Amino acid sequence: MALEIDRVTTDADMAAALGVRTRVFVDEQHVPIEEEVDRFDTASAEGVVHVLGRLDGEPVATARLLLETHGDGYPHIGRVAVLAEHRGRGYGRAVMEALHREARSRGVAGVTLAAQTHAIGFYEGLGYVARGPIYLDAGIEHRDMDLRLT
Ligand code: COA
Repeated sequence: MALEIDRVTTDADMAAALGVRTRVFVDEQHVPIEEEVDRFDTASAEGVVHVLGRLDGEPVATARLLLETHGDGYPHIGRVAVLAEHRGRGYGRAVMEALHREARSRGVAGVTLAAQTHAIGFYEGLGYVARGPIYLDAGIEHRDMDLRLT
């Protein structure tokens, strides 16, 4: 079945994306809900693009792109989540590629992210290159990674 990916523009779609994230990050990975959700997680928030992937109408995958950069850094992709029972079928790759298209359409030179170390191979497969040391965030090991888009 094909995944349908759309940019989140309504409160209902935002709630669906947060439902996926809650199951993955809060229920599965035990990230506290107050660390998981922030001011960028509304349909009308400025400076962010959320995408939501649905299978036959059911929300199964999501990710977001924060457009504001820090200094000369790239925009930041985060909250990349696919429901456990739907992994390994290319849906994670598909939501990432949707955000890469969003970034390219804004003319940015690249994107960056903080990869959980278990997912480094997933991002490497998309062309990301690791940078700097491993560090802890929300009790989970991470490493920064960059993808050039130009
Ligand atoms: N390590 C190495 N390679 C991986 C991988 C991993 N953890 N997960 C997927 N891949 C590979 C796949 O084998 C596939 O390779 P192929 O193109 O050669 O076939 C490719 O990456 C694309 O995989 P895909 O099926 O699109 O990934 P997915 O839908 O299973 O989603 C995650 C991957 C990481 C988003 C998903 O496992 C997830 O939601 N995990 C929990 C949340 C999380 O940790 N998010 C990342 C936070 S940084």
